[in-house]
Amino acid sequence: MNTSNRKIEHLTLCATHEVESHRDDHGHRRTGFDDISFIHNALPQINMDKIETTIDFLGEQFAFPLLISSMTGGHPDTLEVNRALALAAEEMQIGIGVGSQRAALEDPALEDSFRVVRDSAPDIFVFGNLGITQIQEYGIEGVEQAVGMIDADAIAIHLNFLQEAVQPEGNTNALGGLELIRQVCQSMDIPVIVKETGCGISHEVAQVLCDAGVSAIDVGGLGGTSWAGVEVYRAKEQGAERCEGLGNLFWDWGIPTSVSVIESSISVPVIATGGIRTGMDIAKSLAIGASLCGTALPLIRPALNGSKEVVKRLRTMLEELKVVMFLTGYDNIEDLMQSRVVITGKTAKYLNERGYNTKHFAKR
Ligand SMILES: Cc1cc2nc3c(=O)[nH]c(=O)nc-3n(C[C@H](O)[C@H](O)[C@H](O)COP(=O)(O)O)c2cc1C
Repeated sequence: MNTSNRKIEHLTLCATHEVESHRDDHGHRRTGFDDISFIHNALPQINMDKIETTIDFLGEQFAFPLLISSMTGGHPDTLEVNRALALAAEEMQIGIGVGSQRAALEDPALEDSFRVVRDSAPDIFVFGNLGITQIQEYGIEGVEQAVGMIDADAIAIHLNFLQEAVQPEGNTNALGGLELIRQVCQSMDIPVIVKETGCGISHEVAQVLCDAGVSAIDVGGLGGTSWAGVEVYRAKEQGAERCEGLGNLFWDWGIPTSVSVIESSISVPVIATGGIRTGMDIAKSLAIGASLCGTALPLIRPALNGSKEVVKRLRTMLEELKVVMFLTGYDNIEDLMQSRVVITGKTAKYLNERGYNTKHFAKR
C-alpha cells in the first residue's frame, strides 16, 4: 500500500474505531494523570476572569499551552481536515503540526494538502513533520523540502518504531538514527523537535537527544492513541495474522505520558502529548515539568465537521485549564508550573523504581 492511501486509512480508522490504549485494572488511564492530584486551594485570592494563560514556546506566543499535534495531509481527502484544524489553531492562537510529509516527498501533487495549513494559519507556530526512517531515505534535502513546503517555524522528527515493527510494510532498520538527528540539528536554522508517537521518551533517550542538539522533546507517551492498536484493525482487514498478534500484544506498550514528562525534563522544553484529553491533563503536565501540551485524536471527529467544532473542543479545554488554575490559586502559567501535586499509586511506584523522589512535587 502506498503512503498516501495509508494516511487516509489511518485517519478513517482513528475516526471510527476505539484506538486508545486500554485502561488498567483499576480503570485508570495509562497516562498516569489519574495518579496525580492538585492540592485544592479553598481561598484562591485571585479573580478567575483575570487568569492569564499565554506562554512563549521557542520564541513564539501561544494563547494557551496547547498545540494540535501532527496528524494528517498526504491524501487529497485530508486537505479539508487540515484546513479545519489550521483555521481553529489560528482562531485560538495556538500551534499546529502537519502530519508526516513523506507522501508529498514521494508525490509533489500532494503538497497542497499540507500547504493548506500555512495558508489557513499565517500567524501561528506551524511545524513540519518527517519520520526518522524517511530522513534516512531523503536526507537533509528532504527535511529542507518539507520545511519550505509549509514555511515551517520548526521541524518535528517522529520516532515510531513500535508501529514500524508491527506494520507489514514497516521499516525496522533503526541504525544511525541518533547521528542523523544530530546532523539535522546542525544543518537546520530552525528548531528541531523530536517526538515519539505513543510510547514515550525515557530519561536516557532524552539525554542523548539533548546532547544531539534538539530544541524540544515531544514525549508522545502511553495513554492516548495506540499505533499498535491502529495496526490491529488494519491487520484484521488484510487478514495479516502476524501483525494482528503483535499489535494486540503491544497495544499498551510504552512509558506513561506523565512519567515520560518527568523523565525528559532535563534541559530543553518538553511537550506532553499522548492522552491529553482535558484542561486538567494540561495543568497536570505543566505542574510536573512540561512547557506545552499536544493533542491529536480528540480533534479528528470535530475536524471532519469543520473548524467551528474544533474551536469548540479547544475552548472547552481552555476553560477546564482555567478552572484548575482558579482552584489552585494561580493566575498565570509560570506560577502553575511551580504548583504542588501529589503523585500516588502505580505512577509513584514506577517513578520511585526509576529513582525519582515523588515527594519533591508535593513540597514545592
Ligand atoms: C490520525 C493520526 C495521524 C497521526 N499521524 C502522525 C504523523 O504523521 N506524524 C507524527 O509525528 N505523529 C502522528 N500522529 C501522532 C500524534 O501526533 C500524537 O503523537 C499521538 O496521536 C498521541 O496523541 P493523542 O493521544 O492525543 O492522539 C498521528 C495521530 C493520529 C491520531
